Order: sequence, then C-alpha cells, then structure tokens
Amino acid sequence: MEIFLAELPKIELHLHIEGTLEPEMMFALAQRNGITLPYADVEAVRAAYQFANLQSFLDLYYQGAAVLCTEQDFYDLTWAYLQRCQQDNVVHTEIFFDPQTHTARGVDFAVPLQGIRRALAEAERQWGITSRLIMCILRHLSEDEGLAILEQAVDYRDEIDGIGLDSAEVGNPPSKFVRLFQRARELGWPCVAHAGEEGPASYIWDALDLLKVVRIDHGVRCVDDPLLMARLASERVPLTVCPLSNTRLKVFEQMADHTILDLLDRGLCVTVNSDDPAYFGGYMTANFRALATELHASREQLRMLSLNAVEACWLDERQKKALR
Ligand code: HPA
Ligand code: ZN
Repeated sequence: MEIFLAELPKIELHLHIEGTLEPEMMFALAQRNGITLPYADVEAVRAAYQFANLQSFLDLYYQGAAVLCTEQDFYDLTWAYLQRCQQDNVVHTEIFFDPQTHTARGVDFAVPLQGIRRALAEAERQWGITSRLIMCILRHLSEDEGLAILEQAVDYRDEIDGIGLDSAEVGNPPSKFVRLFQRARELGWPCVAHAGEEGPASYIWDALDLLKVVRIDHGVRCVDDPLLMARLASERVPLTVCPLSNTRLKVFEQMADHTILDLLDRGLCVTVNSDDPAYFGGYMTANFRALATELHASREQLRMLSLNAVEACWLDERQKKALR
C-alpha cells in the first residue's frame, strides 16, 4: 500500500501557500527579517498547534504569515512546498494565496505574487509540475475591502487564474460577497469558495447560486441536506475535501467519522487535498494514507479520488487526457 500511495499521481486543488510555512522556516524568516516570534523555539511552535476549531487555527496562521516580507520569502516558501509535491508525486497543483494578509502589513500587492509565480515557473521547468494560482478574498473583512484588492489584481490579470473565498466562515456567508464575485466573473476569472466546512449546507447552495462558483472548497456539511447532495452528484460539482485538516479543526472528531468515502460512493466529485499541511500534520500522500489506514479506503477508491481531481482541475482537455 505504501508504494501504491507514493506512486499514485496526485493533483492538489486546495492548498493555502501560507499554510505550508513549517516552523523551521518561520524561525529562519523571522531572523532574516528582524521579527521577534512569541515562541522560544520550533518545538514551542509545534506545541501550540492544538486547535479547537477554525478560528483558533486562523489566529496562529495569520500570526505566522507575518514573517513573510520579501519576494524571496514567498519564493522560498513556495519552493519548499513544490519540493514536497515532487516527493509526493503531485503532478499538478492549484494553490491559494491571501494578498490581504500581506498588504495589511505594508507588503506591496506584487511581492507575494511575483515570488510565488517565480517558484511555480521553476517547478514546471525542472519537474514538469503544472500549476494555477488562485487569489483568495478574506471573508472576515468587508466586501469593499475585497473589491479594493480585486481591482489591484486587474493589473496582474494574466498572473492570477481564479478567485477564491477563505477565512472565518460562520457569520460571513456567501451573500456578503455577491457584488465582488460578479465583478470577478465579469473580469473573466473562474471562482471557487470555501463553504460547508464549519458553515451550514445553505452556504454551499449560496456559493453555487449567488457566487456561481465552479468548485466548492471543503463542502463536507452537504451531508446534512439530501437535496443538495443529489444536486452535487448530478452536476458533478467538485468538492475539495481536506481530511487531515477536518480532523485537526474538529470538523470531524476522528478520521473514522469522515464521510468522504460515502460521498464518493454517492457519485459526488470529491477530491483529496492538504489545505494547510504545515499546521495539520501532512502533505498529499499523508492525506491519502490517512484514508487508507483509518477509513480502509480501497485502491480503487483512492484511484477514483485522484481521477476526480483530474476532472475538477483547470488544465485543458488535452492535458487532462494525458493524466488519465
Ligand atoms: N478554511 C478557511 N480559511 C482558511 C483555511 C481553511 O481551511 N485555511 C486557510 N485559510
Ligand atoms: Zn482552505
């Protein structure tokens, strides 16, 4: 099984690049940029990663991201993630970044974009790993603040492949961002949104019908609504599910309770993803391994999950054919 897991070609569709910041790099970048961290050492950082819910994670995630200052910092962060992709046989990855987290600290909009882009280009050159870059809007901030960052992105239209929605879900429903997503679609960007991670199934309906997203990030709360599950299955709306994230953030108490295989059996286009691997204890292979060992997923099921990601990704049909 371990060889099967290692060799399985993987596509990642739900990955926050700021969530790949390992404690070692957090310390190295803090030192490089003259920033003092509220931790004595790497072990103390790891010890702090005990999350009760999404918000308790987000507090540490935004604090950690404050060590990212220069284009080189974003390059180094992204390059370290891509090395993991190469080790895990991830052949294509569609990653998120959160520009508002950085511009709020005085980092220019172009800085993260250029650093991340340079690393993505290098990985395609060296290893043939293809990629897309999705700019996420922070939903705990106002729609007007999101619209302002969207307008900044227009100058970099060709370097951004889509628009997403992340951060604190409950209390920040899709309906808060209707104008923003309409504008993003007018500008030609495909859209995705986190929905149904901690928020209710109604947020998934609204992400589809109000924001007109082409994929749902997480989406696991659809199990509360049979009509929604039927729609997701018949329309083959992709759900980018993140097993280790879900158990670390107590969306499911333990992996044995995870419903991803039930959704797969019902014909939903569910995929496996790592979300924020530095914080949740594993990259792509580790997420697949958790399904094999703790949910007893068969090779056939694991292969289907991987093929669903081919269907759900933004490569063109010719490239997809080569991956099937
Ligand atoms: N959910 C919402 N916002 C996030 C996440 C997540 O899993 N990871 C990083 N930002
Ligand atoms: Zn996420």
